[in-house]
Order: sequence, then structure tokens, then C-alpha cells
Amino acid sequence: MSTNAHNFPAIPIPIDPCAPARIGGVRGKSGRATVVRAIPRISSGIPKVALSDICLSYRTQSGERLLALDHINLQVKAGEFLCIVGPSGCGKSTLLHLAAGLHQQTSGEILIDGKRVQGPGTDRILIFQELGLFAWLTVGQNVEFGMKMKGVNKAEREEKTRYYLRLVHLSHFKDSYTHQLSGGMRQRVALARALATEPDVLLMDEPFAALDAQTRDLLHDELERIWAETGRTIIFVTHNVREAIRLGDRVALLTFRPGRVKREFLVDLPRPRVLEDVHVAHAAREILDELREEINRSLEVEYNVGVKPHVEPGVEQQ
Ligand SMILES: Nc1ncnc2c1ncn2[C@@H]1O[C@H](COP(=O)(O)OP(=O)(O)O)[C@@H](O)[C@H]1O
Ligand SMILES: [Mg+2]
Repeated sequence: MSTNAHNFPAIPIPIDPCAPARIGGVRGKSGRATVVRAIPRISSGIPKVALSDICLSYRTQSGERLLALDHINLQVKAGEFLCIVGPSGCGKSTLLHLAAGLHQQTSGEILIDGKRVQGPGTDRILIFQELGLFAWLTVGQNVEFGMKMKGVNKAEREEKTRYYLRLVHLSHFKDSYTHQLSGGMRQRVALARALATEPDVLLMDEPFAALDAQTRDLLHDELERIWAETGRTIIFVTHNVREAIRLGDRVALLTFRPGRVKREFLVDLPRPRVLEDVHVAHAAREILDELREEINRSLEVEYNVGVKPHVEPGVEQQ
């Protein structure tokens, strides 16, 4: 399908792991401190993250098995920003937990750089709405914490703490405690702490959902800038389609239970994007139309209007 950013901003694309990486845009800025590990921008052709035929079923309270994820296939290129949208309960968080290695899928496999995920690893980090910051530690100590766990020596920890606090514009708050900061600033501390462990892949689960609109807009700008400067690969889950268009190179839409990839959209709009931009709105409308069908299905299930959750008696319990 041809792409025309002005008339048809969001382009549904087939799932194609070998699709060529886009060149240009805001990527590739340098200016990184030497102590900070650079991520090569040239892709080896192997997807950074590959989810292959992922199925996951949970046991419900009544003892049935609920199929939450059904044959999910997704590939993410190194340095790509993939957003995943879908109605509440479609398995977005579950998918990130699997990629983080916190939970085991029922079947299928997850590869990072071609290597099978068998548990948590320092190459990935999960960032979610509940920040998990320690109230008894200062901002700087919170940022150092992950590195300490990773065994990074003190001098390097201090240098990286300075670097990443500068990156999220919080240098002046190094000695503050988190209760002295606003919600948006706390989210930036969490981001700095995650980045400081230098994972290749950031798995972000609705990280800005609880923030007011103004703070969220600022954090969109900052996240995009940080992504461009550090070359990280991001998988960002949200139920907010405009947020997905604002940030993503690509948006994958999941169906309501069981979660399947309904469609993928390539977001062919110049960066930085503005939430209120007419092209962003146009692209969002297209995805929203598809999402609405899934939300209607979820409402039918939640309010018991005839449709029952998809249960699979034969699938192994997790
Ligand atoms: N530990 C669990 N046990 C049983 N069911 C679960 C568990 N975690 C999630 N679920 C169910 O799996 C489905 C997907 O959940 P989740 O991944 O949290 O969805 P989302 O993040 O898209 O809102 C939901 O129906 C949810 O109720
Ligand atoms: Mg969730």
C-alpha cells in the first residue's frame, strides 16, 4: 500500500519482520557521555524483539482457563518505537510481562537479539505507572539503585547518575526526596533510573496514564528526545490512541480477549508530532474506528450481553 502522509497518515501494514528500517527523522543525534553505552544504529537484520506465536492462558476463579493472548506475532526492530493499543483487558500488560521475563507464556517464544527469553534480564526493563521509587532514598540514590543491583562500581554509578538526571532535566533535584517532586518529575526519575541500567529495550506499560494532560505532553517530548539520543528500542503500551500516534513509529492494535494482533499501522508522520495536529487526529480516528469494535466487544463481555469470555479447556495452566 502506498504511503501519503498528508491524505492518509496511518497506513495499515502487513506483519513483516524484514521491512526496511526508516532512515532520517530525529534519530541519530550524538553528544553522549563516553561512560554511557552506545547502541549501534545499524541493524543486523535480526529483530531486536521477536514475539512468535505467543499464547497465554490464565486460570480463572471458577477453575476455567482463560485464553488471554492468542498467537501473538510481533517483531520490533532495533531503535524502533512500537506502541501497542487495545481495550482494557486485552492482554497488553500480560504481553509486556512476558517480554520482561516475569512470566512464562503457555506456548510460543520470545527472542531478544535472536536469543530466547528465559527470565528477567538486564537487556530489558519494565516501566509502569506505579513507579516503585523508594521514598527513603533521594532522587540520585533512586537512580543509582538499579545500577547498584547490577554491580556497577561507585564511580561509574555517580557519573551515570549525573548523566541520566541531566538527560531528564532533573540535575538540580539529585538530593531531593521523591515526595518533594511533582508526578511528572517522579515519572522522569523512574525513567532515569530505568535508563541508567542501560537496557536495550524499554517496556513501558501506560507510564503516563495517571498524569495530567500538560505533564503528559511534556513527558512525550522528553521521552521522544531521550529515545532519539539513546537509540533504545521501546515497546510502549497505552489505551490512548493519540498518544500512540504521537510517539510510535508503528502501532499494533490488539483485539479484546483473547488478545490477537488485529492490525498494524505504520505512522508516517514527521517528528516531533503534536497531539492536536490534524494529521495525528486523522491517523488516530482510523485506529479508533477499529478499536471501537473491540471496545464494544469488551463491553458486551463485561456486562454479560450474550458473549462469554473465550475459554480453552485444553490449554496448560500457568
Ligand atoms: N494473574 C492473573 N490471573 C488471572 N487472570 C489474569 C491475570 N492477570 C491478568 N488476567 C486477565 O488477563 C486478561 C488480560 O489482562 P491484562 O494483560 O492486564 O490486560 P490489559 O493490560 O490489556 O488491560 C484480563 O482478562 C485479565 O483479567
Ligand atoms: Mg494493563
